[in-house]
Amino acid sequence: MPEEDFHLSSHARSQAHISLANMTRLSGSGRAQGFYMVPRPDTYRPWWTREDGTLDTEKYLEFYDEFIRNGTTGQVAAFVLEPIQGWGGSIMPPDDFFPKLSKFCKERGILLFADEVLTSMGRTGKYLCMEHWGVVPDVVTLGKGFGNGFPVTAMVVREEYADAVDKISASTSYGGNPMACAAALASIEVIEEEGLLQHALELEEIFRNKMAGWPDKYAIVGDCRVKGCLMGVELVKDKKTKEPFDEAGRLVYQTAFRKGLAWIPAGHILRMSPPIIMPNEVAEKAMDIIEESIAEVQKRLGYG
Ligand SMILES: Cc1ncc(COP(=O)(O)O)c(C=O)c1O
Repeated sequence: MPEEDFHLSSHARSQAHISLANMTRLSGSGRAQGFYMVPRPDTYRPWWTREDGTLDTEKYLEFYDEFIRNGTTGQVAAFVLEPIQGWGGSIMPPDDFFPKLSKFCKERGILLFADEVLTSMGRTGKYLCMEHWGVVPDVVTLGKGFGNGFPVTAMVVREEYADAVDKISASTSYGGNPMACAAALASIEVIEEEGLLQHALELEEIFRNKMAGWPDKYAIVGDCRVKGCLMGVELVKDKKTKEPFDEAGRLVYQTAFRKGLAWIPAGHILRMSPPIIMPNEVAEKAMDIIEESIAEVQKRLGYG
């Protein structure tokens, strides 16, 4: 398997962060000792399936168990992962993955560390994305929407680990900056006052309804997925082989851009995280622009 199939994570760009992620092809740096990468379930591109073709979460856990016993010292400190892989392409796990992984970690004394820098603060319709699966991680990182534009991040641990954090006296020059804290608190107030968690779920409905028919209607659309305001549309050359269609991704982006819509292009996946304050009419219009662009590009490429 090519390495990039292993773990399409993104956590940040320092040596330790890169060691946690599959960003090595971007940065040119290697993974530090003691960091390992394991496959995580992707419902559209599963490695292990049941007889009916659906993803088999148990097989992933069996792999982790085997890997820990034979591929590591056996003393694993933590699983660090994004609840939904953002940069990796809005890749969503099956609903049973995190509850099962949480149990797996508890049984082995391994910490579950959720990097919610992208997925927290209402992005998926909850404060923490992990709430969707009823899982409380041991460690959580927050960022991006936490300060809503103001640069502020946080690491939150379960109460029982508060002493451990005290012991390492983790600090930075700007840690606890009062203005940053005020910005984060103000963001939470706005989320509450404007009912933005609920609104993100309303937007999800709009996105979901608009995208529902695309895989049947368009030859180049392999998969559409959404959770709150985190979306992914995979463009493929062939629905059976699921071969990524980078050119289609680039052209759909360019076509939509000319019609007034922009996002951060990401190869064959239309990967988007629109603002959770977006009015419903704007969300509907944006989805229509994307659909028109897909239809035009598909025709231009001779796919339908
Ligand atoms: C999931 C995730 N973790 C961490 C980071 C990096 O955050 P920062 O830029 O605050 O270091 C990002 C940035 O895109 C991210 O998406």
